[in-house]
Parts: sequence; C-alpha cells; structure tokens
Amino acid sequence: MKLHVLFATSEIAPWVKTGGLGDVAAALPPALRAARIDVRVLLPYYPALAAAFPEAPVVAELSGLGGRLPTARLREATTAEGTPLLLLDCPVCYDRPGNPYLSNAGKEWTDNAIRFGLLSRGAALLGSDASPLSWRPRIVHCNDWQTSLAAAYLHFHNGVRARSIITVHNLAFQGLFGRTTLAEIGLPESAWAIAGAEYYGYLSFLKSGLYYGDWITTVSPSYATEICTDADGMGLDGLLRQRSARLSGILNGIDTVQWNPATDPNIAARYDIAKISTKARNKAALQRRLGLEVRNDLPLFGVVSRLTEQKGLDLLPILAEKLMAMPAQLAVLGSGARELEEAFSAMAADYPLSISASIGFDEGLSHLIEAGADVFLMPSRFEPCGLNQMYSLRYGTPPIVRATGGLADTVVDCNPATLANGTANGFVFSTATPEALWESMLRSAVAWHQPPVWRRLQRNGMARDSSWAKPALQYADLYRRLDLLATLAATPPGQLLSA
Ligand code: ADP
Ligand code: GLC
Repeated sequence: MKLHVLFATSEIAPWVKTGGLGDVAAALPPALRAARIDVRVLLPYYPALAAAFPEAPVVAELSGLGGRLPTARLREATTAEGTPLLLLDCPVCYDRPGNPYLSNAGKEWTDNAIRFGLLSRGAALLGSDASPLSWRPRIVHCNDWQTSLAAAYLHFHNGVRARSIITVHNLAFQGLFGRTTLAEIGLPESAWAIAGAEYYGYLSFLKSGLYYGDWITTVSPSYATEICTDADGMGLDGLLRQRSARLSGILNGIDTVQWNPATDPNIAARYDIAKISTKARNKAALQRRLGLEVRNDLPLFGVVSRLTEQKGLDLLPILAEKLMAMPAQLAVLGSGARELEEAFSAMAADYPLSISASIGFDEGLSHLIEAGADVFLMPSRFEPCGLNQMYSLRYGTPPIVRATGGLADTVVDCNPATLANGTANGFVFSTATPEALWESMLRSAVAWHQPPVWRRLQRNGMARDSSWAKPALQYADLYRRLDLLATLAATPPGQLLSA
C-alpha cells in the first residue's frame, strides 16, 4: 500500500505565496505522488482558495480542539495537477484580506497564534486515531513555524499517532507568542519547559516542532550544518546540535513546468539550451518594459527578491556609481523593508535609463527578469535554499551568490578549473561586503564580454537537473525509514522475528 502523508503548509502557489514555501508546497506534493506517496496537502481555506474551489465539499467538522481554538470545517478539493487538498475552513481565522501573516497595512494579525495553532492542531488531529477521516496519514510533514506545533500536539496525543517531520525553510521566523498562549491553543502545562515549547519566556512554535518532532529537515544540506552553529543557529543551535542525529538536509527542487524558458508564457521569446541566442529578445523586451535604454553591448543585472536583511541587497546601492561606470544596467523587483525600497527607488531616479526599481510583487515580471537579465544577483547573508538562483540557472542567467546554504549547494564558481571540468555555472563570493560583491560582479562582466566563456556558463546552468524528481525520492525514502522506525519501536521483540 502507498504510504499516506499529510503535508501541512500555510502557503501554496499560485494562490497564496509570500516566498519560496508557496512554491515548494505547490511542486513537491505532485513529485511525491509520482514517487508513489499518497500525499494530501492541508492548508487554510483562505479567500484565494475559496475563490478557486468554491464548491469544495465539507467532509468533516473539527471541534473540541482544546483551549480557545475555534471549530473548523474540513473541505476537500483537487488541484488541476491532481494533488488532493484538505482545506481548513474557519472564516473567523482565515476569511480576511492581506496575506497569511499580515494585514494590508503590513501589520501582523494579532491572532496568529490561534490561526496557526488551529492549522497545526488540525494537522495533528488528522494524524491521530481521533481523526474524523478514514484516510489516515502515517507521517505528518510540517513546514516552518506555522505548522510546527503539530509535532507537539502529536507528542501529547494519547493513542495511535503519525510520526512528524518538521522542515525548516527559514529559522529566522520562529512564531513567538506570550506565556498565556499555551493554554489558549490547548497545549498542556507540562509543555512549558526548556525541554519543551518554552523559549526564553515565550512560547515558540518553531522550537516546539524542533523539540517534539520525530525528524527535522532543512531545505539544503549546507543549511542543516550551518544552523547547528552559534553563528547561524539563531538561538536554536544548542537544541539542533542535540537533535543532530535526527536532522538532515534535502535540497529543494523547482517547478520545471512553471519555470521553463521553452514554454514560459510570461516571457517575450521562448528559448532553450539549443537556441540560447533567442534569450536576447527577452533582454530587449525587459529593457523596453522597464524604460531602460535598449542596448545589447552591456550586461544587465537582475534582482527578484524579498527586500530584507537576509537577502544582503543592502550591499548593492552603494555600488551604483561603479555600475554606471562599468557600464551596466540593473533591474530590481522586490518589496519589503522601506529603507531598501527607498534606496532602490532613489537609484532608479538617479539613473532612469540604466537602473529600474519595481517595488511590489509581480509574478509575470519575475519571469521576464529571469529570462531578460544577463546575470542574476543573490548576495544573501543566509539562504536556507533559495529558488531564484535555480530559476536563473535554468534560464541561462548565471547567478552571483554568496557562499551560504542552498546557494553554496547549487552554484559553482567560474574559474579556469571549473570551466575546464564543465561545472562552472555562476559566481560565488564569501564575505558579505560591497567590495566582495563588486569583485564578483566585475568577474561576471569580464566573462560576459567573452561570448564563448559565457555560453559555456549558460549551458552548464541550463543543463543542471533542478527538478523535484530526486528530492521527492529522498523525502519518500525518509518517510519510509521513519515509518519503519516507528513500527519497529512499537513491535514487541518476540513479534519482530515472526513479522
Ligand atoms: P524566499 O522564500 O526566502 O523569499 P526563495 O528564493 O526561496 O526565497 O523564493 C522566493 C520566491 O518568491 C521566488 O519564487 C521568487 O521569484 C518570488 N518572489 C520574491 N519576491 C518577488 C516579487 N517581488 N515579485 C514576484 N516574485 C517574487
Ligand atoms: C525560505 C528560504 C528560502 C527557501 C524557501 C523554500 O523562504 O528563505 O531560502 O528557498 O524557504 O524552501
């Protein structure tokens, strides 16, 4: 029989996406199904999902969930690709504008503990013998702090329960709430301990998952190592070191259907590895769309990013004059920290024919930048995995990255040795300083001005297999091992021999 897995998430592209988690939740489950895992995705019935699946039938009512958690209804739907969705319908929690975490005014919803406590509690309930559904998962796969608490609810469940996996997409977001939250979300007092859900006087959703979870994964092998260090552990490295025997990294894939330059409807001209020259038409289209001077004799650098400290883009504005002297162009798409939005807007105002800043979230433009830019910039201070560098590789737009997390695991620096052995696919620098970033931008411009070198870099990146097929097999293997571990641990020794 296929292994049953419940994949719990707070985002899913294309309906609800604030970053890479939405992309992962959309693309990993279909790949898991192809790997013979019976996976269903649990997420809130947000307005965007209600609009997409207005007829989704109610299949169960979840009540008596403990604390102040409201009653919710469970609806079922199936995506066009055939992924079954379990939609948690609770209007008081999820039927509101804004994004999953913030109001339109950019303020965190004040009841986030209840909203994501409910989502986690729902996941745990479905993973237990108290579930109203006949479909019973053996594994509950949680993603980030929003669903992490499911591991704690499962731990405290008296009865048969699924094993839990917590995938850390970003350790920086921990879901911290006040002491009184513990009772409100229906966790027992005994969970209030350093060996439990407490984190320096707060209730931490993420720490609860890391403590009670049966397994922890991160979205790249390098990040799994980094978060066990004082420098990158964000206060949780001690616990993560303790749990390192149950911590592993599985590199993300990308959605190779949505992100395919040969079929992408968002770009001006489609191309592939056999016809990279057509990519130039996208550069011209991007330049026209952004009001940049249409030129093919200088490199165009692209950025698509949340504008936060994590992404290291504060290193860039100070390089504006150097960039103009190079000469080069820059196209930025992003939103987030006001200072950064203002800094990029000011750069664009100073050099309107060479620098463009699009402040906001624009899926279509993000594809055109991947296709139209020559070089992609991703100087992240830390990066659990990063998807944009993989989109760039696939679009023949060699990325410049800092050597951290998933960036270090996917981008190979261009030098004579890596060019010779056919692995070079971008540019990597180490120190998070404008000087180090600039040095790699210069190196990329030198390579760009040497078409044979540039073509090799582009080809190496475009040939890389970034699909979900391999990571899905790794997750499937982990699910099976964890399930076997649970079975063996629960089997009395006498029966093991005869089993
Ligand atoms: P993170 O999840 O840390 O933001 P990732 O690289 O994993 O970083 O994923 C970011 C995703 O969000 C990518 O699909 C990227 O294209 C998208 N994205 C980020 N900012 C924007 C934006 N302003 N407009 C459109 N897409 C964006
Ligand atoms: C997070 C990380 C990013 C990762 C994404 C999907 O948002 O910041 O590096 O790619 O999750 O796993």
